[in-house]
Amino acid sequence: MIELKNLCKTYHLKTIDVEAIKDVSLTINDGDIYGIIGYSGAGKSSLIRTINLLEVPDSGSITIDGKILVGNDYIISNKELQQVRKNIGMIFQHFNLLDRNTVFDNVAYALKHSKKTKEEIKKRVYELLNLVDLVDKADVYPSQLSGGQKQRVAIARALANNPKVLLSDEATSALDPDATEQILALLKKLNKELGLTIVLITHEMAVIKTICSRVAVMEKGEVVEEGAVYDIFAHPKMPITKKFISSTSVLGKISDLIDSNLDLNKDGELVKLQFEKKTVGNALISDISRRFNVDVNIVLANVEILQSSPLGSVIVSLEGKKEDINNAIDYLKENHVDVKKITKEEIR
Ligand SMILES: Nc1ncnc2c1ncn2[C@@H]1O[C@H](COP(=O)(O)OP(=O)(O)OP(=O)(O)O)[C@@H](O)[C@H]1O
Ligand SMILES: [Mg+2]
Repeated sequence: MIELKNLCKTYHLKTIDVEAIKDVSLTINDGDIYGIIGYSGAGKSSLIRTINLLEVPDSGSITIDGKILVGNDYIISNKELQQVRKNIGMIFQHFNLLDRNTVFDNVAYALKHSKKTKEEIKKRVYELLNLVDLVDKADVYPSQLSGGQKQRVAIARALANNPKVLLSDEATSALDPDATEQILALLKKLNKELGLTIVLITHEMAVIKTICSRVAVMEKGEVVEEGAVYDIFAHPKMPITKKFISSTSVLGKISDLIDSNLDLNKDGELVKLQFEKKTVGNALISDISRRFNVDVNIVLANVEILQSSPLGSVIVSLEGKKEDINNAIDYLKENHVDVKKITKEEIR
């Protein structure tokens, strides 16, 4: 378990001070794929780099599996830190491979200080290349690899010493959508098969949605919202979180539709319905249409599968008598559907 408590970090530049981390507290449990999302400059890299003390916080404490790294004017010795770092691998946006070394040597480099014999190192490197499916590239140079392949070499290198934790700083940001998907699938596999705890930072909600179990949203050095990915998607509280979510959902297009002057709710009521876990399968839309004599026009619909559970959101225009519409809305609420009336003002 990784516990960050009240971390603060300010960079002192010539003319100004930059508060990169402001009183951040987070707990990352073993086996989590923990996402940290935020816009550029939010402090994500600064924060993730404190976990292996590449960045030393000004105050606050960091504890990993009960061992204090920093806290209360204490800081771990360099020798102990080396030991701790063996348990924490890290990957980066630009891979950080040694261009003059082959794929094999890039991975073997991480075992330089291990007590392994040459033969043992060779065996381990091939094990790792096998894990990331790159055995056939052992003798080529990084320049001969695609971005996705380079990142897989970096992952093999990061895992060489059997770490419990992998830190990923925008590992898929330089990759095309196909390669991104492959790397995320590989991270998920490593999490599942090796029990690897992964802390990843990203500015894309799609990445969070695809693999994370928990997420923290960072803004201007602070964690402004944190929770299980499903709960955050179902009930985002902060404007920035809502913005990130609408960037991955087709429902974000509702404002475009309204801007295009489509007459969406001439006689009716435009509402957003959210169906969570249990209610997703129920035929509530045809049900209200029959029971209350209202027409239900589906304007936009979005279904996500988050952590194996469905989350459905639909924007509909309800048309009919006002009383019937209100009764239909009450009925939906009674059936645990989250109903929000949408006004044009609210969307903008
Ligand atoms: N070594 C440094 N010296 C001075 N200022 C720094 C340093 N590293 C980061 N900063 C500043 O701290 C703030 C947070 O930077 P950080 O790199 O942690 O953000 P980020 O969320 O990772 O951004 P990005 O998405 O662009 O990578 C920024 O204002 C940045 O300019
Ligand atoms: Mg960064």
